[in-house]
Amino acid sequence: MPGKIPQNPPRSRVAPPFPHQYYRLLQINCAEIAAIIIALGPQEKEKILLRILFVTSEAFPLIKTGGLADVSGSLPAALRNLGEDVRLLIPGYRQVLEKLRNPRILLELQWLPIVGNVTLIAGEMPDTGVPVMAIACPQLYERDGGPYLDPEGREWLDNPLRFGILSRVAAILGSHVSPLANWIPDIVHFNDWQGGLTPAFMRYSGAPCAKSVLGIHNLAFQGNCAEEWVEKLGLPPEAFHIEGLEYYGQLSFLKAGVYYADSITTVSPTYAAEIQTPEFGFGMQGLLATRSEHIHGILNGIDTTEWNPTGDPHLFHPYDTEHLDQKQLIKRELQQRLGLAQNADAPLLGIVSRLTHQKGLDLFLECAAPLLARGCQIALLGGGEPLLEHGFWRLSLNHPQQVGVSIGYNEPLSHQIMAGADIFIMPSRFEPCGLNQMYGLRYGTPPVVRRTGGLADSVCDATEASLEDGSATGFVFDLADRQALLNCVQRAIDLYHDKPVWEKIQRNGMVRDLGWNHSASIYRDVYRSLL
Ligand code: ADP
Ligand code: GLC
Repeated sequence: MPGKIPQNPPRSRVAPPFPHQYYRLLQINCAEIAAIIIALGPQEKEKILLRILFVTSEAFPLIKTGGLADVSGSLPAALRNLGEDVRLLIPGYRQVLEKLRNPRILLELQWLPIVGNVTLIAGEMPDTGVPVMAIACPQLYERDGGPYLDPEGREWLDNPLRFGILSRVAAILGSHVSPLANWIPDIVHFNDWQGGLTPAFMRYSGAPCAKSVLGIHNLAFQGNCAEEWVEKLGLPPEAFHIEGLEYYGQLSFLKAGVYYADSITTVSPTYAAEIQTPEFGFGMQGLLATRSEHIHGILNGIDTTEWNPTGDPHLFHPYDTEHLDQKQLIKRELQQRLGLAQNADAPLLGIVSRLTHQKGLDLFLECAAPLLARGCQIALLGGGEPLLEHGFWRLSLNHPQQVGVSIGYNEPLSHQIMAGADIFIMPSRFEPCGLNQMYGLRYGTPPVVRRTGGLADSVCDATEASLEDGSATGFVFDLADRQALLNCVQRAIDLYHDKPVWEKIQRNGMVRDLGWNHSASIYRDVYRSLL
C-alpha cells in the first residue's frame, strides 16, 4: 500500500442485520425527495445528476486484460462529460493501488464473509480524473499473476470469494444504508460475471437499494462454482433455486446478474439479439429471452484520445487522412522490429488478440499458406491457448521474413501493429462488440471481420454499392470457415493493390464517429428509464 495513505480509517456503520431504524429514517427522506422530484417539470428533471456506481474487475489504465478494461476506462468518463456523477468500484489489485491518483483511505467495511474487513481507498483515474473506489484486501487482490489467472494461467481457486466480495461491497454501497451516506448511487452498473452477485446481495439485504444494471461483455464467462459458495458468501440457502442463483447444479454469478438485475445492457445491438439464441446463448438463451424487454444492445465507443493516429505517443510518425503516406514509415519500422523483409508492397496483415477459440484465429492459421504464397506478411501480437501460440510460433519459424509473432501483452506494440499493418484480421466466431476492429478503422487499417456481434454493427463491407456511396470501411464474411475467411482476405488484398479505391476505404473508416458520445447518452436514457 502506498505510504502516503493516512491511517485510522473511519469505521463502517453497516452491520448484519442492517439497522432497521436507520434506514426507515432514510426512507422518509427519500419519500420527501421523491415528492420534490415529482413536482419538477421535465426540463428540471433532466438536470438532476445521476449517481452511478460503475463496478468492474478491470479498467484501463489501472489494469487491463481485454476490452472490458477499455470500456471501464472510457464509458464512465463519457458519462461524466455528459454531466453525470460516476464513480468506479474495482478490486484493489497491486497495480491499481500503485497507479491510482491521489489515493486516500475512505473507510473500512466490516463483517464481510470470510475476509472480515476490507478498506475502501478513494482516488482518481490517472488520465480522466474519474473518481475511483478500490477495495483494498491484500489477501485477495495483491498477488503475482493476473486479475483472474495465476502466473501459470490457471483460474485462481478463490475467484468466487474475490469477486463475491466485489459484488457484496457494490451491494452495500448501493443500498440506502450505505456507510457512504453522502454518496448513495441511483444506479449500480455492474459488469460481467465478476459483479454478478451484486443484485442478489441487494435483494436479500432487506434494505432499499439503487436500481441495478448488468453489463454483459461476454456471455462465455459465467463464474460458475460449487453450491457451497452460496452459504460461504452469506447468501440465503433458499436463493439457490432455478428461480435465483442456481444454474445446472452450480452457483452462477452471471445467471444471478441476469436473473436479479433491473436492466441488462450488452455491447452491441446484434449481440443483444444473438444471446437469446442457442448458438450464442451459452445455455442462458432461455432465461435471457424471458428478460428480452429489459435487454439493451448499445454499441461500445472507443477512447478517441488514447487511440488517435495524429497524437499517439507510441508512434514516431503521426498521420491523418491527408497524410496516409506516413503509415508506410510506421510499416517499415514494424517490419524491422519483427524481423520481416522490408517490402513496402507486401500486404501486411495485423492481428492483436487474445488467442482463444472465440477469436477464430485457428481458421486464419489454416489460410496462412496461400496468403504467404501470395506475398503477404503477418504481424501477430497475442497470448492465450498454447495450441494457438505454438501454431503462430511455428509459422514464424518456417517463414521468418514473412511472419512476425510476439507472444504476451504489449501496449505500445498493439498501437504500432494497428498503425503499421495494412489490413486488420478479426475472424471471430462470436464477438460481443470488439474494439480492435474499431481501432483498425480509426488507424486507416481496414478490418476483415466475420458478420457477428459488434463486428457486424461496426464494419461495412466493401461492395460496389458501399464503395459508391462512401460507406465501405472493411471486409465482412459470413460463415466461420477457412474458405470464407480466405476469400474475404483475398478480396481485401485485391483492393489493397488498387490504391485510389483502397485510400477511399481507409478514409471512410478514419472519419467515422467512433467515440462514446452517442452510446453514453443511450446508457443515460436506460438509467433514467429505471428511476
Ligand atoms: P476482447 O475484450 O474480447 O479481448 P476487444 O477487441 O474488445 O476483445 O478488446 C481487446 C483489447 O485488448 C484491445 O484494446 C486490444 O488492443 C487489447 N489487446 C488484446 N491482446 C493484447 C496484447 N497481447 N497486447 C496488448 N493489447 C492487447
Ligand atoms: C469482451 C468482448 C469484446 C468486447 C469487450 C468490451 O471482452 O469479448 O467483444 O468488445 O468485452 O465490451
